[in-house]
Amino acid sequence: MGEPGNLHVLEPSTAEEFGAALEALIESCLAFKFSSPHVIAPRGIDRDRLRAAAEVSASGADLESVVAWFATEVLPACLNFSAPTFVAHPDAGNSTAGILGGIADAFLQQNLSSFDYSPVATLLETELLRSIRRVVGYDAEEFGSASAAGGGAVFGGAGANFSCLLAAREHLKRRLAAEGKVFDPRRTRVLANRPFTHFSMRRSLFMLGLGNRDLTAAQRREQGLDEECLFEVASNRFRTDPDDLERQIEAVRARGEEIMCIFAVAGDSRFMAFDDITRLAEIAERHNLWLHVDACEGGQVLFSPRRRHLMAGIERAHSVSLDPHKVLLVPYNLSLFFLREPSWLSYFSGDPTSLISQDETSLGGYTPGINSKSFISLKLLLMLRHWGWDRLAVEIDRRHDLARRAADWINSEPSLRLINPEVSHNAVGFMYVPETADEGADPNRVDGLNSLNRAIHERLNTSTPFFVHAFSTRDDEAQVHDEKGSVFALRMMFGNPLTTWSVVRECLETVVKVGFELAASFPSPAPARDGDQA
Ligand SMILES: Cc1ncc(COP(=O)(O)O)c(C=O)c1O
Repeated sequence: MGEPGNLHVLEPSTAEEFGAALEALIESCLAFKFSSPHVIAPRGIDRDRLRAAAEVSASGADLESVVAWFATEVLPACLNFSAPTFVAHPDAGNSTAGILGGIADAFLQQNLSSFDYSPVATLLETELLRSIRRVVGYDAEEFGSASAAGGGAVFGGAGANFSCLLAAREHLKRRLAAEGKVFDPRRTRVLANRPFTHFSMRRSLFMLGLGNRDLTAAQRREQGLDEECLFEVASNRFRTDPDDLERQIEAVRARGEEIMCIFAVAGDSRFMAFDDITRLAEIAERHNLWLHVDACEGGQVLFSPRRRHLMAGIERAHSVSLDPHKVLLVPYNLSLFFLREPSWLSYFSGDPTSLISQDETSLGGYTPGINSKSFISLKLLLMLRHWGWDRLAVEIDRRHDLARRAADWINSEPSLRLINPEVSHNAVGFMYVPETADEGADPNRVDGLNSLNRAIHERLNTSTPFFVHAFSTRDDEAQVHDEKGSVFALRMMFGNPLTTWSVVRECLETVVKVGFELAASFPSPAPARDGDQA
């Protein structure tokens, strides 16, 4: 590597060198985005080489060689989410304006912790949040302070859900205090359809001080406490079963415990199934409970007049989380949370007597866990300004059309079995099931199918241009497992505008071909492994 020179910061005398490095960097990033084959499996990474490449020398190196190192050592080992054949997640993050927003954010270096350090960015982010609030169906107060946004921009869906759960906890505390009761984190419950809620939710509950993992089993027995604060509600076709929800509310109350919230999901991370929000809102209102809707995956349908009905009733939820970096074409990181009443943001304030402590115009005053924050929402603002509402709606509808077409193809192929026949929006789960697998009543049949599909997944992602997702899941519609037991399903999700029907068809044909080849080497089933997460 060449000598680093004296100046390491951007200033007029380094601008030329910087410009050249930027150009080279962008050129190699573009080559990465369009490389073929598009994706490589993490297993293919040469860890020793990467470890050596990550070493930092005492004297550093010039920009040109740092960029060259990045292009030759780092980029080729990275997974390319925006490859048309990458159908594992919807988060392609490849809108041109979105990427430009991400780049511009680095140049701007605004700090939205305080209005003084980011007046324009604070005003624009607040205004953007107010627009999206209206898309959700929440009222947007007159623009007066940053808190009018009634929510915030954070770094991930896990953080967005956490913020809403924190608000729900504080809401409960105040309600209990008004009733003359004291909040008891050891006897506070959250109701959820556990297998189809994202695993980060349980971690959030733990971070909120709920549950009793800190006690020994003997202590819990003595006190009549459960380890988890989560109270499980049955699922029906991957959704929260409203009738069982009613039963579980009664069961919690019969134990003398409090309910912090009903945690509903609009678009589950496995098959994008939508809870019946209208029904759940009606139950929540009748029992005076907080309803949170995790719409990190499914919130995209709010932007489509044709698909929006899947989230009917959302305006009645107390809080909602959305994940633009998962479903709105923008690169990581950007997630949003909203509270139905903007005044509930005061729960995050250190001083409960003022709406926002110290300064109502500073976003950092009320974003849980975040003070300094760059203009992360700029990428969404640029993307929306470039695409406009109508073009975005067309793309969201196209995702559903692609999934429906894939489902029809799977249904017409005797060796494939659809796991989510309803195909709510843009996900299709399926398994390769050789026709001979249905012969006889082999008690190990499902274990064998799970192993076979695990092998298909591995072969697909390492030896073909396609990259699909796969995980253990409850077979909630009993498509393969008679008893709704655990199956290992392959899953395609559509969110990349570059993924066309011909790519999808070719991927399905490849699954069938690989399945046929591998089925021959699966005479006896091997036990399935559990624990894969979507
Ligand atoms: C439904 C749902 N909620 C929350 C999350 C967490 O989002 P993030 O990974 O952006 O923190 C995910 C992630 O996949 C998800 O699918």
